Amino acid sequence: PARVAGFRVWNAPAPVAAMAGQSVAVVLTPDVVVERGDMIYGPDAPPMRAARLRARLFWLHAEALRVGDAYTLRLGPAEYPVSVAAIDAVQAVEGDVRPGGAEEVPPDGFADVTLHAPQGVLFDPFEPGALGGRGVLVDAWQRVLGAAPLLGPAALGATPAVFPGTSAVLPRDRARANGHYGAVFWMTGLSGAGKSTIARQTEALLFARGMQVAVLDGDALRTRLTSDLGFSEADRTENIRRTAAVARLMADHGLVVITALISPTRAQRAMARTIVGEAYHEVYVRADLATCEARDPKGLYAAARAGRLPGFTGIGAPYEAPAEADIVLDAADQPAEASAAHLARVIEARVRLSRRTPT
Ligand code: ADX
Repeated sequence: PARVAGFRVWNAPAPVAAMAGQSVAVVLTPDVVVERGDMIYGPDAPPMRAARLRARLFWLHAEALRVGDAYTLRLGPAEYPVSVAAIDAVQAVEGDVRPGGAEEVPPDGFADVTLHAPQGVLFDPFEPGALGGRGVLVDAWQRVLGAAPLLGPAALGATPAVFPGTSAVLPRDRARANGHYGAVFWMTGLSGAGKSTIARQTEALLFARGMQVAVLDGDALRTRLTSDLGFSEADRTENIRRTAAVARLMADHGLVVITALISPTRAQRAMARTIVGEAYHEVYVRADLATCEARDPKGLYAAARAGRLPGFTGIGAPYEAPAEADIVLDAADQPAEASAAHLARVIEARVRLSRRTPT
């Protein structure tokens, strides 16, 4: 609380009153320290304060906006770290409003979203024609990605009461410290194609080059994170969903992640791509069924042929090869060492910070 002791303007007598839209200096008693973005308001008419906000978003970026994404909300001179807690309704530019939750807002889409601002935001709700509540979402490089008029606080119960916080460590600072961006290289291929072997060798090569790298291997994850899952299509989908969510977290924390799961269907890989977002790169570890079956390192193809492993990928369950993988490794004819060396080179070229990178 403070009292207005007077006004100052540049090169003119001090006025006794000031109006909205004017640029003046305000002298306060006591002499409180005012931060950039702070608001002055009368004791009888405080603005709203909320940590969860409803915003009517016009999304301008070429990449879709997704639940969990973190941005900065700019509101006048104030900036607040926010994350997308829920997408409550989406309207495509030439489409009907689709009420009910959605996973993403497409480029040029309109949406009602719930934003979570851990520090709390002070705001006047948006009303057409009035000045208040006109926010924009910007990224780490201050590019405006969306217009976000703030409609009001979000009601608890309307959306799941989760509060995804945002890190005070910026992605670009992690990238600078590591010398590379976080990313996910999502392998797909038949059992026996060599995914795990190539992933581990690539990991070792990148680690030796000073990079922060980790492997998420389907067989290893199935001992803990996904130990409750089998090999039905639904269980594989859940296996891939969880692994993608973990891979995303790790990439957000700056790691290069290589996943080694069969990921047999296009739909499952599309889901992984949606969960991971821009950081997703698909790696097809290509080896035909005959080659994998001849190798049969775990004896599983023999067991499947003998009818002891129903639903084994390639025998009793389908494998849909990717039509347009980002990277294809010839794992049938080329030794694993050669595939790993190639993959390590491609990964490094894609994630290393270059001098042209904006800072
Ligand atoms: S995925 O289909 O859900 O992506 P994931 O990579 O996690 O599969 O697990 C595949 C591994 O599980 C294989 O390498 C193999 O060792 C083992 N496995 C056991 N049963 C099956 C099955 N029916 N189909 C495929 N792999 C199986």
